[in-house]
Amino acid sequence: MNDTAAFDLTLDAVTQRYRGAPSAAVDQVTLEVAAGELVALLGPSGCGKTTLLRIIAGFVQQTSGRVVIGGRPVDDLPPNRREIGVVFQNYALFPHMTAADNVGYGLAARGVGRDARIAKAKEMLELVQMTHLAERLPREMSGGQQQRVALARALAVGPRILLLDEPFGALDKSLRLDMQIEVKRLQRHAGITCIMVTHDQEEALSMADRVAVVHQGRLEQFAPPNEVYDRPRTLFVNQFVGASNSLDARLVGDGGTWRARIAGAPAWPIRLVGDAGDGDPVIVCVRPEHLRRVGVGEGLPGTIELSLPLGPQIVHEIRLGDGQAVKVVESRSHGAQLLPPGQAVNLALAEGAQPNAFPRPQETTS
Ligand SMILES: Nc1ncnc2c1ncn2[C@@H]1O[C@H](COP(=O)(O)OP(=O)(O)O)[C@@H](O)[C@H]1O
Ligand SMILES: [Mg+2]
Repeated sequence: MNDTAAFDLTLDAVTQRYRGAPSAAVDQVTLEVAAGELVALLGPSGCGKTTLLRIIAGFVQQTSGRVVIGGRPVDDLPPNRREIGVVFQNYALFPHMTAADNVGYGLAARGVGRDARIAKAKEMLELVQMTHLAERLPREMSGGQQQRVALARALAVGPRILLLDEPFGALDKSLRLDMQIEVKRLQRHAGITCIMVTHDQEEALSMADRVAVVHQGRLEQFAPPNEVYDRPRTLFVNQFVGASNSLDARLVGDGGTWRARIAGAPAWPIRLVGDAGDGDPVIVCVRPEHLRRVGVGEGLPGTIELSLPLGPQIVHEIRLGDGQAVKVVESRSHGAQLLPPGQAVNLALAEGAQPNAFPRPQETTS
């Protein structure tokens, strides 16, 4: 395998409507993934991630739109002719087969002879460092070990694109980090295009070259992790990716530089995303690490509800004068301390911080 082995992938207005469903599970998704790229499909449960992955793999025939792999439309091809490897959400290993037989299974299904199959399974188990457990059944392996076998099985068929559905969901935190590094290593080593489904924004941000944020079947943003984090295109993306406080505010300005005023305090500089004018209601999304405490009489007044020590940080839950709640994160290495409930505090934006502001969504009565 080398880096010419990877294929690019294009989704062109792909839509899926399940029979009887009130809305589309996948709605007009258009996406271009470069060869060798690792893309995370990120979104909450039920937003259509698995459906999209199954459409790419060929297990679900989409209602409309096209899937193009390596320049070739594959909509009429069955899964085993799309040159795709899939690791399903719960690994889906065959319970009555050993690790080695599981890894060789896809090759058998493609008519590869026994000796070649055994050799390939051995090579793949070596790649995922599972040679010593080749004769074990799935139930005799830990979650992480089954995960490795599922990966080896997906890679054994020499896919041009690797699809992973919530691959680390069943693993505990420390093992998850190991496997994330492992998958990234294998993906780079194989030079393979990879689409990974996850609802975990940290996982998406840390692993992916680009992140596709999906909400209610629609693609809301497709961009590198930093851009998704710093310049979200929608309120949903800002709220879903990373922690943020969503605060009701009024827009101040004439279009040159926008500011936003919260609870009558001095207005903060913001980056306006969308259409709004002076005095309009907006939602300001400010990250907990972008707020700092300032002296009495300055900034935005509030009171401490709770201070929590979270490892290297302290998180303060603060209630503003108008009733809105805000989280502020301070670093202990900068001398942050727990504060007693009821203590008055004043908040300002950290140096250089410029929160995003979005027009407040219209109230709907459905
Ligand atoms: N086979 C199916 N038949 C009908 N509805 C389905 C089917 N599979 C998924 N759905 C629905 O489609 C939507 C998207 O589901 P899914 O793709 O599994 O989301 P995710 O993987 O992001 O959690 C959900 O509302 C789900 O209930
Ligand atoms: Mg899913």
